[in-house]
Amino acid sequence: MEYANLLLEKNDSVAILTVNRPKALNALNSDTLSELSSALDAVIQDSAIKAVVLTGSGGKAFVAGADISQMKDFNSLQGRRFAQLGHAVFRKIELMPQPVIAAINGFALGGGCELAMACDIRIAAENAKFGQPEVTLGLTAGFGGTQRLPRLVGTGIASELLFTGDIIDAQEAYRIGLVNKVYTSEALLEEALKLARRIADRAPAAVQLSKSAIQRGINLDLDSAQAYEAEVFGLTFSTQDQTEGCSAFLEKRKPVFEGR
Ligand code: CAA
Repeated sequence: MEYANLLLEKNDSVAILTVNRPKALNALNSDTLSELSSALDAVIQDSAIKAVVLTGSGGKAFVAGADISQMKDFNSLQGRRFAQLGHAVFRKIELMPQPVIAAINGFALGGGCELAMACDIRIAAENAKFGQPEVTLGLTAGFGGTQRLPRLVGTGIASELLFTGDIIDAQEAYRIGLVNKVYTSEALLEEALKLARRIADRAPAAVQLSKSAIQRGINLDLDSAQAYEAEVFGLTFSTQDQTEGCSAFLEKRKPVFEGR
């Protein structure tokens, strides 16, 4: 399918999703969010895709935020609806089976930082910049930033970023645990693809159940989360890939996973 503001490519078992509005630094308007939702549905339905890399086009920005020109004249109801649209699309990323890696190649501000935070893994280019500058616009973060940032980096650092709107560089983002690794701009996409392929090589059900246990468990109390973990651990024993993985280990050979 063709999208106006998005590119969806397939590279073996890895999908590459690129937000493609470079003239607006890939800012998210409602059309782009709706396209992102449709593209995610296409990925979810394609069981040959085992991992996703999400990035931005143009070399300058991952995503520079929600679209300020669209939001400028919103009333309260339109603001709430826009936030709910962002919430629904970003939650889809967390709840979809395939892991999503954000390859942050430039500005990840406001809704862009929030989009990255909804991904399972974040890696960044040296030139990446992060922040929640909404307060400089008279807004609060509205696509999950007030909730995901404290969960990722703790309430103290999150509060400072959300109250000041300060922009931080990739090294600082690494230091506070917002990104896992920092690469040169030239290496970033290849490193993201390497990571995605490494994930795609593992037993798919085990990877997907691990994601589910993380995403569902993080919002539960420890006892309920462990009960869920026991359930997904049990489920892996109903897969052929579990038999293959354990047998291959004992037979000292490389496993061949077939996704069953
Ligand atoms: N929305 C709409 N358009 C945007 C945009 C955004 N978030 N960010 C950049 N653009 C547009 C600019 O208006 C400009 O368009 P024109 O060429 O038509 O004038 C184009 O992209 C290039 O941007 P700049 O000329 O500003 O580029 P720069 O290199 O001088 O600055 C920047 C880059 C620091 C990222 C700057 O563009 C900027 O500060 N952008 C806004 C960042 C921001 O505040 N994001 C948060 C938005 S609010 C939000 O996201 C709410 C939420 O949580 C839901």
